[in-house]
Amino acid sequence: MSDPGTGLAQRHLAVVGLAREAGALALRYFHDRAALGTTMKGAQDFLTVADGAVETLLRRRIAEAFPGDAVLGEEGGGAAAERLWIVDPIDGTANFARGEPHWCISIGYMQAGVPEIGAIFMPVTGEFYLARRGHGATRDGAAIRVAATAEMRMATVEIGWSTRRPLGDYVGLVRRTMEAGANAKRAASGALGIAYVADGRTDAYTESHINSWDVAAGLVIAGEAGAWTNDFFSGDGLAGGNPVLVCAPGIVAAMRGICGL
Ligand code: IPD
Repeated sequence: MSDPGTGLAQRHLAVVGLAREAGALALRYFHDRAALGTTMKGAQDFLTVADGAVETLLRRRIAEAFPGDAVLGEEGGGAAAERLWIVDPIDGTANFARGEPHWCISIGYMQAGVPEIGAIFMPVTGEFYLARRGHGATRDGAAIRVAATAEMRMATVEIGWSTRRPLGDYVGLVRRTMEAGANAKRAASGALGIAYVADGRTDAYTESHINSWDVAAGLVIAGEAGAWTNDFFSGDGLAGGNPVLVCAPGIVAAMRGICGL
């Protein structure tokens, strides 16, 4: 694999070990619910001891392997840098805290402002999504591709929700999506929601506001699997979040109209 001094191949390889080690630690907490110490950061915004422990582990391992790299994480924060890892130690924390298996470790890597690598690991099922820009996307080593769905009446769309935007935004998105004939659902992990579009399990993921650590890995994976994605990192996307739309090509026009993106 050519890697003219950028270190991307090295990081592409390293991210697999990072995600697997983080996933193993998170899984130990998942199976020891008494140790979870669940608290609330805000309404419907869960935090467990595992979130902090997994992010601390990721930060330590990245610093050991790539001492010059910076980290932006959901729990510890961070800022833009030339070589930047964007991590969500546990995405789908509400599911995790309630004992539901739909959660993941999400690790993105961005160089000079360009999202280059994405890894999403779902420890309970063992499914591992991986992509490097220009090199395709895989699940458990096998190439993945978005669905060929071309009609909204055959489409399934996941619509993410948080209290960061007024309820009317969410209800409006659900209504317009369903009025267009699609099945609307919500499974409460933005990272996995985007990975599922990449994998052809759903046809679109959208949310009126989401943070960069939820989407950094998924946007690389989905782009490499043939999805249309909005320019999430425009403006203040990295630090402050943005709306997101990730979509199978056949329903892009319909979904862009519905989302206003
Ligand atoms: C949340 C999940 C959820 C999405 C929210 C995120 P967290 O992240 O990805 O699906 O709708 O916008 O904040 O708290 O589980 O890491």
